[in-house]
Amino acid sequence: MILITGGAGYIGGHTAINFLNAGYDLVIFDSLETGHIETIETLKQIGNVSFIKGDLRHPDDLEKLFSEYKIDAVIHFAAFSLVGESVFNPAKYYRNNTYGTINLLDAMIEHDVKKIVFSSTCATYGEPEYTPIDEKHPQNPINPYGASKLMVEKIMADYDAAYGLKSIKLRYFNVAGCDEKIRIGEWHNPETHLIPNILKSTFTGGQTFKIFGNDYNTPDGTCIRDYVNVEDLAEAHRLALEYLNRENKSDVFNLGTEQGDSVKNIFDTCEKVLGTEIPVEIAPRRAGDPAKLYADATKAQTVLGWKPERSIEQSIKTAYDWECNLQKIIKDTD
Ligand code: UFG
Repeated sequence: MILITGGAGYIGGHTAINFLNAGYDLVIFDSLETGHIETIETLKQIGNVSFIKGDLRHPDDLEKLFSEYKIDAVIHFAAFSLVGESVFNPAKYYRNNTYGTINLLDAMIEHDVKKIVFSSTCATYGEPEYTPIDEKHPQNPINPYGASKLMVEKIMADYDAAYGLKSIKLRYFNVAGCDEKIRIGEWHNPETHLIPNILKSTFTGGQTFKIFGNDYNTPDGTCIRDYVNVEDLAEAHRLALEYLNRENKSDVFNLGTEQGDSVKNIFDTCEKVLGTEIPVEIAPRRAGDPAKLYADATKAQTVLGWKPERSIEQSIKTAYDWECNLQKIIKDTD
C-alpha cells in the first residue's frame, strides 16, 4: 500500500492515476483545503483507493492513518505552493510545508516506513546563477515557499543519516496540462498560473489575460520557464519509487523538459492550438519572478530512465478541455 499525501490535488491526483494504472493500492491523505473531493471520487472509479481526510499539522491524524494502514512507501505532495502568498504569510508555509512534513516523517519512523518520494521545487534554487539549472546549482531560495521546501530537503538528509529514512527529492519546474481522458485537471482558487489564466480569458466574462512584464532580459522581453506535462511528471514519481525500492538510497532529481518557453511564446501557442484570438494586455512585472528558469534534467533521464514525452501543444489542448469541464462544474455548483 502506497500513501499519497495531497492526492486530491493537481499533481498528486495525476500521480495517483499513474500508480493506479500500474496496479498499486493507494491510501490518500488530504485536508481538502486546496484539494477536491471530486478528484478522490474519480480516482475511486479507476482503482483501489482509500481516502483519509486529515491534516499534516495534526500528529493525531497521522497516527490514526499509520495505525490503520500497512504503508510500504510515501509519495508526499501535501503543501501550499503559491510563491506570492508565501511572502506575506510565511507562517502558513513553514507550519504546513515544513513542520507538517516533520510530523509525517516522525510518524513514518515510528511505524517503520523508510521510503519517501518528496515533491520539491526549482524554487529552492532561487535566482539562477546559470541556466540550464542542474542539481548542483546552489540553493538560495528567494521566497518562503522555496525555503520551506529546502528545509525539508535538509531535514530528510539528516533523517537518513540518523534513522535510515531514504528519500528521493524531485525538483519540479513548471507543470502543465492534464489527464488525457480529462477526468481531473488544474483546479486552483484563485488561479495564478500562466496557462490556465490564458485559457480562462477565452470564456465569456473572463478577464483579459495579463502578461506580467515584457522588459526582461530575454529575447522577447517576457519570462522564460520550463513547462513539463503533468502526466510525464506523474510517471517520474513511479520511476523514482521503483528506483528507491531497487537501490535503497537517497537522491535528488530535476524534472523539466530542458525547453525554455517565454510567456509570449506560450500565449501564441495557445492562440494557435485554440485557433482563436485571445484578449491580452501588458501589465507590470510580478514580484519575485526570475527572468529565466529551465532545467538540466539529464540526471533523471540517465538514472531514472525518465523521458518527458508530451509536447506543450498537448498540454495546452488537454488543459483547455479540462478548463471547459471546470467552467461547467463551477457554474453547476454556483
Ligand atoms: N504569468 C503571466 N500572467 C499570468 C500568470 C503568470 O504573465 O496571469 C507569468 C509569470 O509572471 C511567470 C510565468 O507566467 O513569468 C509563469 O508563472 P506561473 O505562475 O505559471 O508559474 P511560476 O513560475 O511563478 O511558479 C511555478 C509554480 C511554483 C514553483 C515555481 C518554480 O507555481 O509552485 O513554478 O519556478 F515554485
